[in-house]
Amino acid sequence: MFEEEKFVIKGLEGKRCLSGELKTPGAKNAVLKVLAAALLFKDEVNLANVPDIEDVSRMLELLEDLGVVVEKNSPGTYRLITTDINSSDISVEISKRLRASIVLTGPLLGRLGRAAFPHPGGCVIGKRPIDFTLEGFISLGASLTEETECYVITAPVDGLQGTEIFFKTQSVTSTENFMMAAVLARGKTILKNSALEPEVVSLGEFLNDCGARIEGLGTSTITIYGGELLSGQGKVYVTIPDRIAAGSFIVLAALTAEDVLVTDCRPDHLDALIYILRSMGVQLEVTDSSVRIRGRQPTFKAVDIKTHEYPGFPTDLQAPLAVLLTQSEGSSFIFETIFENRLQYLDSISRMGAEVKVIDAHRALLTGPSKLEGKEVASPDLRAGLAYVIAAIIASGESVVHNVYYIDRGYERLEESLQAIGVDIKRVQ
Ligand code: EPU
Repeated sequence: MFEEEKFVIKGLEGKRCLSGELKTPGAKNAVLKVLAAALLFKDEVNLANVPDIEDVSRMLELLEDLGVVVEKNSPGTYRLITTDINSSDISVEISKRLRASIVLTGPLLGRLGRAAFPHPGGCVIGKRPIDFTLEGFISLGASLTEETECYVITAPVDGLQGTEIFFKTQSVTSTENFMMAAVLARGKTILKNSALEPEVVSLGEFLNDCGARIEGLGTSTITIYGGELLSGQGKVYVTIPDRIAAGSFIVLAALTAEDVLVTDCRPDHLDALIYILRSMGVQLEVTDSSVRIRGRQPTFKAVDIKTHEYPGFPTDLQAPLAVLLTQSEGSSFIFETIFENRLQYLDSISRMGAEVKVIDAHRALLTGPSKLEGKEVASPDLRAGLAYVIAAIIASGESVVHNVYYIDRGYERLEESLQAIGVDIKRVQ
């Protein structure tokens, strides 16, 4: 079923006329973890550059349920008071809608010795198991019981015991979850084959700044020395720029810019995208914190992409980039290696006129350039939703993008940012 709100977008029919600035918001996948980490603090956590998005609101509700007092001081600025964490039951209702709720379990288990939670929900992008989370807690000494609607994990009376955990697949939220649990465990925990994503590093650096001892951030072996509750007094976590939002804006600009400047970003977190775009012939002017695209673009060269853990090409940019591939000369092969069924959105891109051959749940071939036509589409997830918005902007005629709820989960008032550079986009009830 379609959700209530939709975007109505009038396409540019391939014209390159967008101009102005797109400001990168704070990273959803960084701030959500720092919010969860508040449970590790004996006093307070202060945050800045927090994006005003649905997932942040849901995470704050979950924290309030657990006893955190949330104060919003000015837009994007929060103070969380964490002196009285009094519940270890994570709301079933909310976490079924928020995959990232799983990162509350590690800190909660460390702090209160118990965490009860359902299988988390989130975007519909195929099977998203939590077996690493369950196995990891057991190796930290906890016991697991399954009740009707939830899992209950309980630490030994004297707390979690540091251990060595090897991830058979690199996992962002699992690395973060155990890193946080281990901050309050006894002794040393070593995480092997850990995730290297900038969001993991940013979380670890903030925890270290507040009294944790975590070594090896940004490498595949992270060592955590367990200790006391952390203190956030006098510290502020400034959310790092959202590399996926910036990357999506850059792809949009590659297709449509007369002169677009993507600001407040970290191009050094986007090496894989920048490499791919340059190899397609896109001209980018890159500084430490911005990317500019201007002038007439020559035709784009087709390119093969394979998603990979950081610093490889991010799965979250696969769908937005695919829209650019529909406009490239020749055939481009997409190999999605991280998630199953993250190619379903291609059905609608094909209905819009792209030449798409889906080979299996992980692989597809796009042949371009194709003229896209406006259509009515429904976002299956956040990142595919963005791809539809980009496709609608370059298409001819009008498109309607349903399920804007998914887009709101990760983008703050996207339509306003896009209107400011000249996109004809309206949010309609
Ligand atoms: N996996 C397991 N078992 C587990 C956990 C993961 O098999 O217990 C598998 C997954 O099925 C997947 C692979 O491991 O095949 C990697 O998944 P990962 O755990 O890294 O994904 P995640 O932590 O659930 C985060 C982001 C995603 C992003 C991925 C990959 C958050 C809240 N989410 O998810 O972001 O796609 O890492 O980079 O940080 C999004 O923002 O739209 C989004 C989906």
